[in-house]
Amino acid sequence: MTRQFGDYQNEIYFDGLFGVLPKYPLEFAGLEAAALAALPPSIRSYVAGGAGDEHTQRANVTAFRRWGLVPRMLVGAARRDLSVRLFGLELPSPLFLAPIGVIGLCAQDGHGDLATARAAARTGVPMIASTLTVDPMEQVAAELGDVPGLFQLYTPTDRALAESLVHRAEAAGFRGIVVTLDTWVTGWRPRDLAVGNFPQLRGQALANYTSDPVFRARLAKAPEEDLQAAVAEWVGLFGNPLTWDDLAWLRSITRLPLILKGICHPEDVRRARDGGVDGVYCSNHGGRQADGGLPALDALPAVVEAAAGLPVLFDSGVRTGADVVKALALGAAAVGIGRPYAYGLALGGADGVVHVLRSLLAEADLIMAVDGYPTLADLRAEGALRRV
Ligand SMILES: Cc1cc2nc3c(=O)[nH]c(=O)nc-3n(C[C@H](O)[C@H](O)[C@H](O)COP(=O)(O)O)c2cc1C
Repeated sequence: MTRQFGDYQNEIYFDGLFGVLPKYPLEFAGLEAAALAALPPSIRSYVAGGAGDEHTQRANVTAFRRWGLVPRMLVGAARRDLSVRLFGLELPSPLFLAPIGVIGLCAQDGHGDLATARAAARTGVPMIASTLTVDPMEQVAAELGDVPGLFQLYTPTDRALAESLVHRAEAAGFRGIVVTLDTWVTGWRPRDLAVGNFPQLRGQALANYTSDPVFRARLAKAPEEDLQAAVAEWVGLFGNPLTWDDLAWLRSITRLPLILKGICHPEDVRRARDGGVDGVYCSNHGGRQADGGLPALDALPAVVEAAAGLPVLFDSGVRTGADVVKALALGAAAVGIGRPYAYGLALGGADGVVHVLRSLLAEADLIMAVDGYPTLADLRAEGALRRV
């Protein structure tokens, strides 16, 4: 029998009978405010901030308000099925944890990558682990248990290092490689610039590099504890302005599903398809990279159409269960949660992330119950969603 995510509200109301109130906020605004108060200032601006005047970041969120689900009655949607099959994986829900570099630093113990992986293990929601972690990918993978993880690659300029990272991800048991294309250079981020803070330059979240044999060999002359030498080497290697000519090489280095992140134009979808990818990931990095861009949600329908059946992952601006439902109705195969889980983590470690995921799934599930859409296919049927 499929799980009913909406049952989370019964647990909360039942606890309420005994005077036990939820430990963490139930809506995004409260979650964000509490987490921002809890985070140290440098991490706060890094997580909450975006590119330019953050217009695109805000537009990612408001774009969801321009769509509405049309309620259907007498459907008897007593049981809902939110499960998905993706890249050969059977997943209980259509959510995944988007890659967040420095998520490690959002946890109070400084090991947020491991806490996120534990939350994934507890909820069945897959985690996409960033290249930029505080703990090496092998340790993150070990915390995932049976729940699949994917590895997100920031492709370094040294191909041998890129291949080493990918092969380590394979050996660690990750089930897909997500190559992020929109961050070979850091976008203009006034909040971070104002406080002169870029965590990686302080040697933070570089564990996948400092634990890598190819990276270490490049540093052969520097002693292992020489963080400054590692940072200098990292600066020279991090950003690779890839072109379509590099796709054949990326495809050739792994048999795992290959997914390109940052795809928003239908022509780019077609080129990705031609290059043999297994999925595309429609995202504008939560508006952190380039201001002045289209909200990612507005790009989604054309990306889905051009993908012609190839799975389309989506993130950017998802804050509620209603947003999840709308992204699914617009054709996303699975929906990525970004900042909301970073805030849950800041407040309560793995427990906070579990709460955020369960709340999003409960709301999505209950919307499908109330509005009479028992399956994801029903949501995607003609007429379910209307432009407001
Ligand atoms: C603090 C922070 C760090 C991020 N780091 C990465 C990263 O390492 N790799 C990546 O592909 N995307 C990264 N992202 C982008 C997320 O994967 C996702 O696209 C974004 O958070 C979606 O926007 P939203 O959080 O506003 O919904 C990061 C996002 C945030 C907020």
